[in-house]
Amino acid sequence: MEYRLVGTAVPRKEAGRKVSGTAEYVDDVRLPEMLHGVTVRSTIPRGHIRKISFDGAIPWHEFVIVDARDIPGKNVVSLIYDDQPYLAAERVNHPQEPILLLAHADKHLLERARQNVHIEYEPLPAVFHLEEALAAETVIWGEDNVFKRYTIEKGEVDAMWSEAAFIVEGEYSTGAQEQLYIEPNGMIATFGAEGVTIRGSMQCPFYVQKALMALFGLPAEKVRVIQQETGGAFGGKEEYPSMLAGHAALLALKSGKPVKMVYDREEDMAATTKRHPSKTRHRTAVTSDGRLLAMEVEFSIDGGAYATLSGVVLSRGTIHSCGPYRCDNVRVRSVAVATNAPPHGAFRGFGAPQSLFALERHMDKIARTVGLEPDEFRARNLLRTGDSTATGQVIKDPIDLVRLQSRALDSIGYHEKRRRFPVENARSRRKKGIGFATFFHGAGFTGSGERFLQSVVTLEARAANRVRVLTSMTEMGQGTNTVLAQIAGEALGLCYEQVEVTNPDTAEVPNSGPTVASRTAMVVGKLVENAAREMKAKLPSHDFAALGPLRVTVQYKEPPGIFWDDALYRGEAYGAFSYATYAAEVTVDTLTGEVEVNDFVALQEVGRVLHPVLATGQIEGGVAQGIGMALYEKVVWRDGVMVNNQMTNYVMPTSADIPNIRVYFEEIPYEHGAMGAKGIGELPMDGPVPAVLNAIENAIGIDFDHAPVLPEDVLAKLAKRRVA
Ligand code: MOS
Repeated sequence: MEYRLVGTAVPRKEAGRKVSGTAEYVDDVRLPEMLHGVTVRSTIPRGHIRKISFDGAIPWHEFVIVDARDIPGKNVVSLIYDDQPYLAAERVNHPQEPILLLAHADKHLLERARQNVHIEYEPLPAVFHLEEALAAETVIWGEDNVFKRYTIEKGEVDAMWSEAAFIVEGEYSTGAQEQLYIEPNGMIATFGAEGVTIRGSMQCPFYVQKALMALFGLPAEKVRVIQQETGGAFGGKEEYPSMLAGHAALLALKSGKPVKMVYDREEDMAATTKRHPSKTRHRTAVTSDGRLLAMEVEFSIDGGAYATLSGVVLSRGTIHSCGPYRCDNVRVRSVAVATNAPPHGAFRGFGAPQSLFALERHMDKIARTVGLEPDEFRARNLLRTGDSTATGQVIKDPIDLVRLQSRALDSIGYHEKRRRFPVENARSRRKKGIGFATFFHGAGFTGSGERFLQSVVTLEARAANRVRVLTSMTEMGQGTNTVLAQIAGEALGLCYEQVEVTNPDTAEVPNSGPTVASRTAMVVGKLVENAAREMKAKLPSHDFAALGPLRVTVQYKEPPGIFWDDALYRGEAYGAFSYATYAAEVTVDTLTGEVEVNDFVALQEVGRVLHPVLATGQIEGGVAQGIGMALYEKVVWRDGVMVNNQMTNYVMPTSADIPNIRVYFEEIPYEHGAMGAKGIGELPMDGPVPAVLNAIENAIGIDFDHAPVLPEDVLAKLAKRRVA
C-alpha cells in the first residue's frame, strides 16, 4: 500500500509554537487575581496527626488554608480503589503525603509560610521493603499489604522438573526510576457558576474530570479539564494530575480566585509517582538441547502507600514476564504490595521493563548453563507464527523473530565482536563487551480493557477541505497531533495542512480514553482512520451552506476473534505486539568502575512507521531512558523518603553518555492498527537494561542481577572477585 502522508516526515503540528516560544505551558498562564498554592506534606512515613500549629512571623489571616474538612464531596482520588485521600485527615501513610494546602498571591511569602506550619505526629510502625510487606508482620494496607495478585497457569509445570536436563534459577531486581519530564507537574483551577475549570499539564483529561466529579460531587458538565502544552510525561502525568488538579481546585473554591500550583523539581521528584521497584524469581526447566520445558516466575512490585495503578502495572508486568518465547508449561504468580513510600505509578513500559529485564538476564544465564550461545538458545525458543504466549494468545502475524534477531546482531557485528573482544580485553584495563535482548511489547489496554474504554473520536468538516480531529489524546512531545493529522489527511485525501487537531478540552472533545499504553497511534489512530473514511464518503454530497458542519463520530469496536478471560488470565492479552532485538556494546573501566555504552542497535517490527522522524525519536528517547535505568538512575531511599531528589545527585544520562543509537524498523502491517501501525511508545524502554547488563557480563564475566549498575557496584564486585 502506497501512502501520500503516512510514512513521511511532515513538520510537527506544534513545532512552530514550541521553537518560537509561544507555546503556553501552565506556568506561562496568568489569570486575573490569581493566587499561588502550595502543599504542606507529611514528614513521617506513618502515624496519627496530633496537632497542627501555624507559627512564625507570618500574616496567617491573609492565607487561604484548606484541610480535609473543606472537601465538599468524597476525600478520595477516584481511580481504581478508593483508598487514597486528597488530604490526610487523621492518619498519614507515607512521607510527602498532602495534609494542608495554602494559597497566597505572593509566592515567596507562601514558601515561608509552608515552612512555618508545624505538625505533631504519633508515629506508627512502617514498612519500607517488598519482602517486609509480603511477610505482613506489620500490616499497613488491607489485611495483608496486598493490593493485587495474579496467576497465569499453562500446561503442567510440576510434571516437568523431573524431565529437565537443566533447572536454572535466578533472582533479579530493579529500583525505582523517576520520569524526569522537563516540565514538572502543574495545574491552574478556577471556580465559578459554570463549575470548576482546570488547565494543566496532563496525559488524561477525562481521568482528571472523573476524579474531580467525586471530589466535589459535581456532574461531568460542571467539571471542565483543558490540557495546556505539556513538556513530557512518560506515565508521570497519567494519574498524579488528578491529585494536583483537586488540590488547586479546593484552594480555588475556598478563595474564590484562580489558583496555580506548579511543583519545583525537588517537590516533583520527592512527592510524585515513580517506576515500581520490582523483584522477579525465575525457575526454568530446560531440555538437553536447550528447549524451554517449564517456566515458573514470581514477580513482585512495591506499590507504595496507596493502590493507584499498581494492579494494572502488575498485570502488564505479569503478562510480559515470559517474553516472546514458546513454552507449553508456565506458571506466573505475581503480587503488588504496599509500603510506606509515596505511591509508585505509571512509567513508560508499565511493569514490562521490570519483568522483561529479569527474563532477558535469565535467558543469558540459561544459555550459559546449557552451553549454548545466547542467540542460539533464544533462536531455539522464540515464538513462531501459530505458537502461543504464556496466556495462550496465538501469534497470528507472519513474524520471523529468529531472522529479526539475526539482523540486529549482524548490524552490530555481534559474532565478530564476541570473538575479538576477549582477545583485546586481556591486554587492557578497559574491557569491552556485547549483549542483547529480544522482547515484545503489547500495545493498547490489556485484555478486555479497550472494550470497556469504548473510545470515541469525532471528525468535523467546516468545508470540504477543512477538517478538525477531535479526540482526548494529548500531545506531550511524542507527536500525537502530527500522526493523527497524517492519518486523517491520508484517509480523506486532504493535505496535512488542511487537517487541524483540536486541543483536548473535556467540554469540546469526546472521550477517546487516556493517552497511555502505546494506544494512541494504533487504537485511536485506527478510529480516526475509520471516521475519516466514513467522512470521505459523505463529503461530496454534504451541503455546508444548508446543513452547517459535517460531523462524523465513531466508537471502538473490538476486532473479531478476541477472547480474554479475566478470572483465569488467559487469552488475547493485547490486540498486537511489537517485537524487537536491541544490542549494546559497552566498555567497562575496571579501574573506575564506569560503564560506557559505545554502540547501540535498536531493531523493531512495528506494523507501520507513520512518521519516520517521530518514530525514530520515540525509540531513541526510550533507549536513552533505558540506559538511564541500567547505569545511572538510582533513587536513594531513607525511611520512605527519596533523599536524592535533585538532578545534581539523581543522575540521568546526558547526550555525552548516550551513544549513536542506530534505529531500524521492519513493517508487517497490522490490520486493526491505523494504516497498519502498532504501538511503539513503550517498547523501547523494555530492551536496553538487559542488553546493557548482558554486555557488562560479556565484558567482565560478572552477572549483575540488579539495575541500576553504578560504578561503585562494579568496583565492589571486582574487589570481591579479587578476594575470592
Ligand atoms: Mo503509561 S506508563 O502513560 O501507559
